[in-house]
Amino acid sequence: MIIASETIKGARITLQKAVKSFLQAQKHNDEVHKSLPELSPWLCWAKEEYSIEDSYDYLQGCEETWKKGTEFNYMILDKDKNFMGTISALNISEKDKSLEIGYWLSTPYTNQGYMQEAVKLMEKEFFGLGINRIVIRTDVLNKKSANVPQKLGYVLEGIQRQSQWSGADEKFRDINVFSKLRSEYEQNLQA
Ligand SMILES: CC(C)(COP(=O)(O)OP(=O)(O)OC[C@H]1O[C@@H](n2cnc3c(N)ncnc32)[C@H](O)[C@@H]1OP(=O)(O)O)[C@@H](O)C(=O)NCCC(=O)NCCS
Repeated sequence: MIIASETIKGARITLQKAVKSFLQAQKHNDEVHKSLPELSPWLCWAKEEYSIEDSYDYLQGCEETWKKGTEFNYMILDKDKNFMGTISALNISEKDKSLEIGYWLSTPYTNQGYMQEAVKLMEKEFFGLGINRIVIRTDVLNKKSANVPQKLGYVLEGIQRQSQWSGADEKFRDINVFSKLRSEYEQNLQA
């Protein structure tokens, strides 16, 4: 089983293992609600009715999957420990040494390069732990999200056509599949 670091420190941000507490559920819920217009087109759970109980259940789920080693969900914190959003290692395959990264940021923290920084920290951690392939999937319409792997040198493998149903606009969505291999990551470190 992969044992991931509970705290990953970067220059401007820290990734901290997501754990359940009422205070954290409140902070999580506040940022979700502040950012609903930007989150709801892309994340099916981001709705007006998303409650503090939902945030608490999410955090509880994070603790359980962390214990089992099936997902590693981190809170992204700024220098003053303010909660900014989340970044997660999902769909982990120990056999294939692959995982997928998922993320969102509260709107006041966007457009400052924080998500690229967070993804770089995840790459360092998980390629360092022996992962060979990291995937980032983004809606083809979500240009800001696709910008993150594009800027970090991920390869666009293709588009999964109409692979996700979007309740928000009652349409099937096309999804970009980006990936980076450990060999590419290591090559970039040497460059
Ligand atoms: C998609 C999302 C995570 C992007 O987060 P972000 O932090 O704004 O993204 P980036 O790290 O790419 O930063 C964006 C821009 O900040 C700017 N920036 C400002 N200051 C910067 C700095 N000090 N360093 C680096 N970039 C900086 C850059 O222009 C950068 O874009 P560029 O690399 O093309 O020049 C965020 O918009 C979001 O959460 N959206 C809603 C939910 C969502 O779509 N989630 C993803 C579902 S797949």
